[in-house]
Amino acid sequence: MNTHKIIIAIDGYSSSGKSTLAKDIAAKLGYKYIDTGAMYRAVTLFAKQTGIINEKGEIDEEKLKAILPQIDLNFKNINGKNHIFLNGKDVENEIRSLEISELTSHVSKLPFVREFLVAKQREIGKEKGIVMDGRDIGSVVFPDAEVKFFVTASPEVRAKRRYEELKSKGIEVDYNSVLKSLVERDKQDTTRETSPLIKTEDAIVIDNSNLSREQQLELALKYINERIKNIDNAKN
Ligand code: DC
Repeated sequence: MNTHKIIIAIDGYSSSGKSTLAKDIAAKLGYKYIDTGAMYRAVTLFAKQTGIINEKGEIDEEKLKAILPQIDLNFKNINGKNHIFLNGKDVENEIRSLEISELTSHVSKLPFVREFLVAKQREIGKEKGIVMDGRDIGSVVFPDAEVKFFVTASPEVRAKRRYEELKSKGIEVDYNSVLKSLVERDKQDTTRETSPLIKTEDAIVIDNSNLSREQQLELALKYINERIKNIDNAKN
């Protein structure tokens, strides 16, 4: 039996399937799942609602900095699904629009926003027994995480997933704009100055272009169980 509670950090590109993997692992181990992308998206939604960011992505940084302490973020389980609440309101669906996806890459570049959210993420992970997904979890938030995965898949496979996801929610999009937006976001995620998406040396790469959901979970669990066994053995 697994006795030692650990931190599992999952980083990767947009729509790489990292959230699905993170949720599946959390469900299997009885761990808490935290989607840090949802936190950056919720801050962006707040900035949009308050007029601090315009549709071109231009941000009044001073105003945003001043207003950050007014942002309260919480995760709640609604019918078995993790929803993010912004100042008491469920914004899980609202934060997934293409517009918020695009604006979020401007907000997530700002060092003071990252500092604010990283502090919250570390607080949430304090007690371990957590699976956290994002871009900088293994590199910045929890550099000492016991298990780190770097999840990837080809841009075309990822764009198709995002397209299907948006379509299933009744959001009108065409595949080519989804692909274009995704490639643009990859570029911003990997080249931004603050906490760019990188694969740390100790991260295990999972390329799921040709893996089913079950196969990727099985692969990840093999690594996790091995790691927990080693930690338990070292303790005894
Ligand atoms: O994983 P996602 O697509 O929901 O992330 C939304 C945006 O937030 C994306 O532009 C990357 C950014 N992000 C980040 O900079 N750091 C994180 N830990 C998580 C997400």
